[in-house]
Amino acid sequence: MIEISGLTKDYAATRVLDDIDLTVDAGRIAAVVGPSGAGKSTLARCVNLLERPTSGSVVVSGQELTALSGKRLRHARQQIGTVFQSANLLRRLTAAQNVALPMRHQGLPDAEVRRRVGDLLERVGMLHRANHYPSQLSGGQRQRVGIARGLALQPSVLLSDEATSGLDPDATRAILDLLRELRDDLGVTILVITHEMDVVRGIADQVAQLDHGRIVEEGAVADVVRRSDSPLSRALLPMPPASAVDGRRLWTLRYRDAVSPVWLSRAAQDLGEVAVLAALVEDSGAASVGRLTVGLDPRLEERRVVEVLATYGVAAEPVTALHAVAGDRTESAA
Ligand SMILES: Nc1ncnc2c1ncn2[C@@H]1O[C@H](COP(=O)(O)OP(=O)(O)O)[C@@H](O)[C@H]1O
Ligand SMILES: [Mg+2]
Repeated sequence: MIEISGLTKDYAATRVLDDIDLTVDAGRIAAVVGPSGAGKSTLARCVNLLERPTSGSVVVSGQELTALSGKRLRHARQQIGTVFQSANLLRRLTAAQNVALPMRHQGLPDAEVRRRVGDLLERVGMLHRANHYPSQLSGGQRQRVGIARGLALQPSVLLSDEATSGLDPDATRAILDLLRELRDDLGVTILVITHEMDVVRGIADQVAQLDHGRIVEEGAVADVVRRSDSPLSRALLPMPPASAVDGRRLWTLRYRDAVSPVWLSRAAQDLGEVAVLAALVEDSGAASVGRLTVGLDPRLEERRVVEVLATYGVAAEPVTALHAVAGDRTESAA
């Protein structure tokens, strides 16, 4: 579990983090998103105490890191594994030797190190590359070795700062699957720093948006999706590429709870073809929540579309240029 309260970080006269409160329950994945320069990496460095916060507290698994120093802090920090954008592996060491390094620093016995390195490389699907050097591995493979090294000291918390940036979609998916497994199998609490909304959609249980050092919006992903109109809820819905739109008029549809499961085909009887271009749908027992981007015949009267869909419990709103831009800003910021 991670509990960040009243966290502030100043560099000289500049306030880079301003009164951040954020709690991530054990075994959950939280994403922190935001444009470049928002303070995301500074937040990650303050959580593992690579940087000392100016004020506020960071508690990890019940231990207040901000109250510790010296040897006790070094020991407590073993609770936290960290994975960075470029895996930062040592070039002269093999994958196995890189993963072994934190354990060797700990002075663990050779047999124990060998056993754990084997387990870790197997977990991240890299056992068959144990004796390869970083230059012989793809970016995604290096990142997996980096994750194995981050897990070497059996941390309860994993921090990932842009770990999937620059990876192709397949490699990204493999890393996200791996993080999900670490949460589900090992109960690791994961803080994912990212500027990619796909990552949030893919694995996050909760999300917080950072802007100019402050959290401007946050919540459980399922709740944020439900919000009728917020920058984060819009950014969470993928926008279709122009080629898919193909002359149709774009609409955002939202529904929650008791909609008829056949509303889409019923609505199509009244509105003509409904092209589903993007969708984010969550079903949890009786309640179901969805946001969709659909393309409709541009000749349809706006009021009629809204009325027809309202009869099925679905709220419809035409997509405006502003809407698309708000999503882009979050997605393209590095
Ligand atoms: N060591 C530092 N000294 C001074 N300013 C810094 C330092 N590290 C980061 N900053 C500033 O803090 C702000 C947030 O940076 P960062 O946390 O790297 O943002 P992000 O990861 O969201 O892109 C930026 O304006 C950056 O210039
Ligand atoms: Mg950063």
